Amino acid sequence: MEVYSAEERINHLVREINRHNYQYYMLDNPTISDYDFDQLLQELIDLEAAHPELRRPDSPTQRVGGTVTKRFESAAHLYPMQSLGNTYSQEELTEFDRRVRELLAVPPAYVCELKYDGVAISLIYENGVLTRAVTRGDGSRGDVVTANVRTIRTVPLQLQGDFPPLLEARGEIIMPFRSFEQLNAEREEIGEAPFANPRNAASGSLKLQDSAEVAKRGLDFKLYFALGEQLPGDNHFDRLQALHKWGFRKPDVLEKVNGLSGIYQFLNTWDVKRKQLPYPIDGVVIKVNDFDQQRQVGTTAKSPRWAIAYKFKAERVSTPLLSVDFQVGRTGIVTPVANLSPVSLAGTVVKRATLNNADFMAEMDIREGDHLFVEKGGEIIPKIVGVDLDKRSPEAQRIPFITHCPVCGAELRKADGETGIFCPNADHCAPQIKGRLEHFIARKAMNIDSLGEGKIDMLYAHDLVTNIADLYALTYEQLLGLEKIVEDDSGKAKTISFREKTVQNILSGIEASKQVPFERVLFALGIRFVGEVTARKLARHFGSMDAVANAPKEELLEVEDVGERVADSIIAYFNDIENLHILMRLRDAGLQFTLNAEKSQTVSQKLNGKNIVVSGVFTVPRDAIKELVEQHGGKNVSSISKNTTFVLAGEKMGPEKRKKAVSLGIPIVSEEEFRNMLLD
Ligand code: IVH
Repeated sequence: MEVYSAEERINHLVREINRHNYQYYMLDNPTISDYDFDQLLQELIDLEAAHPELRRPDSPTQRVGGTVTKRFESAAHLYPMQSLGNTYSQEELTEFDRRVRELLAVPPAYVCELKYDGVAISLIYENGVLTRAVTRGDGSRGDVVTANVRTIRTVPLQLQGDFPPLLEARGEIIMPFRSFEQLNAEREEIGEAPFANPRNAASGSLKLQDSAEVAKRGLDFKLYFALGEQLPGDNHFDRLQALHKWGFRKPDVLEKVNGLSGIYQFLNTWDVKRKQLPYPIDGVVIKVNDFDQQRQVGTTAKSPRWAIAYKFKAERVSTPLLSVDFQVGRTGIVTPVANLSPVSLAGTVVKRATLNNADFMAEMDIREGDHLFVEKGGEIIPKIVGVDLDKRSPEAQRIPFITHCPVCGAELRKADGETGIFCPNADHCAPQIKGRLEHFIARKAMNIDSLGEGKIDMLYAHDLVTNIADLYALTYEQLLGLEKIVEDDSGKAKTISFREKTVQNILSGIEASKQVPFERVLFALGIRFVGEVTARKLARHFGSMDAVANAPKEELLEVEDVGERVADSIIAYFNDIENLHILMRLRDAGLQFTLNAEKSQTVSQKLNGKNIVVSGVFTVPRDAIKELVEQHGGKNVSSISKNTTFVLAGEKMGPEKRKKAVSLGIPIVSEEEFRNMLLD
């Protein structure tokens, strides 16, 4: 038997797994079974855990993240990252073509491609290994975000074939619409502001401190440029093809076109077809193809003369403002919302759009009866971009921001250093109370799904629940027969009332929530700026509610993701006497106020008699998932057979294993479904 050193074995595994990943993700042609792949990956994970000093920058385990960057360092670019000249008009394109031709003896051939709407990135490969990923920054220096970029599956960690010793690949990190929608839905559910568009979401994700979180954001990489010594190809088109051989995906769209008419045709086609793309683009890029010709045309200090971006116009309309509503959110922040005369824009009818905050209204100088310009930026959320001054009447009065809460009447305040104006009456203002209750019962918090917005409304209207602790004092008698008048589809009023079954469901849902782990209880409290991830980190750091409540600021700041703003908010929460009173009642009700230290103790019998195959990569180490199976009475088995109850599939559950499960009729369960299963 051959004996390998740990280092040799790690080197071998990294090479092998990267090669299989390439076969799987880039060529869609796996040459190994999923089971064997999982074995190799697990062996590497174990070896790296035992020998952290041997962990390599191109290790495939980096895909799942886990590296934490407190502050991003900056680094100088090898070559400056220039931007592109922009145009919105076809006339300017004619002008661009004329300038280019003037400088050349032979008319140029152009290449057209998509202008991805994301964040520019420079990837440095030394001896074929991705060693550094740097954002554009100011063009000469950017932020080093290597660990985060390594989690993006279409970024090769190790090049294949006859790559050069040094390569700089440039492209755009984008967030596909699906990931964007999912991310925003999750953020809204936990009361965090959604991202305005996929570009902001991509940029925010790249700056996350925890790369394991980045891995979950579904980012993608689109290559558009390569630099280095002695690269193959004497033109842009061929060079991008060569990069494909080394492990980059081919650009989805890359077209050689003939002259101006070819360019026009390309951009007219993509102005329409972009609506079917799964990711955002904001225009097309036209480049002179031949490198010699590029050199002859040259560059200015800011941008190359041999390329130009043609940006699609955002669709914009002007429509009358009917009125302004002021909405109070869970945290008390008051948001002005414009009610607009309905107008159709980029495929949907727009009736309302946010006016963000008092500063925005003042800057725009929005007045009564104004016509507002509405744009669909990035095709997603309609945005007010200005006032149609031609249509303003000379007497139009400014619309003042309200001074008192539209719901409870309390005098509004402005928070120091923040743009928001808020209602300070947190404990007695209906939308704030109901918002906190809804947050508390949400799936990712206490997961009391037998309650919902409608039922919370009812309980609140009958004065049965005015804070989260009141939920645990509800009785069968109080709930049975509780009535509410609602309108049916035809607008007729009818009375609905809680029957036995509903009441039982509500009470047992509340009872079950007493087993929800401490980290989610902490999140459920709705402390401002403490999202799901921060709550988990606080719980792990401090271990109990008392420890969090008594932590001095310096200690709070030691926790990853916790900065001044978050620390101050936590301290303010635990200094509020009403909150302390609520916490006392929650503790008495039996909620989990400490981290479950005894890991392998039996938690439930929910998986009793079930044989479970755990396969793939999860949000936590696979061993932790297997432990969960056992804690709930299940049995871990290693291969799929007709005796398997279900397959618990992580990220890398590939076609082979899937095929086997499907052919035997074995259900495939995702991590999320599995976790929900344990909470039911
Ligand atoms: S080429 C030297 N091609 O647009 C020219 N850029 O202001 C290098 N972009 O910061 C850029 N899609 O991040 C090029 N197909 C594409 C692009 C693209 C998006 C971005 C890039 C750059 C900005 C131009």
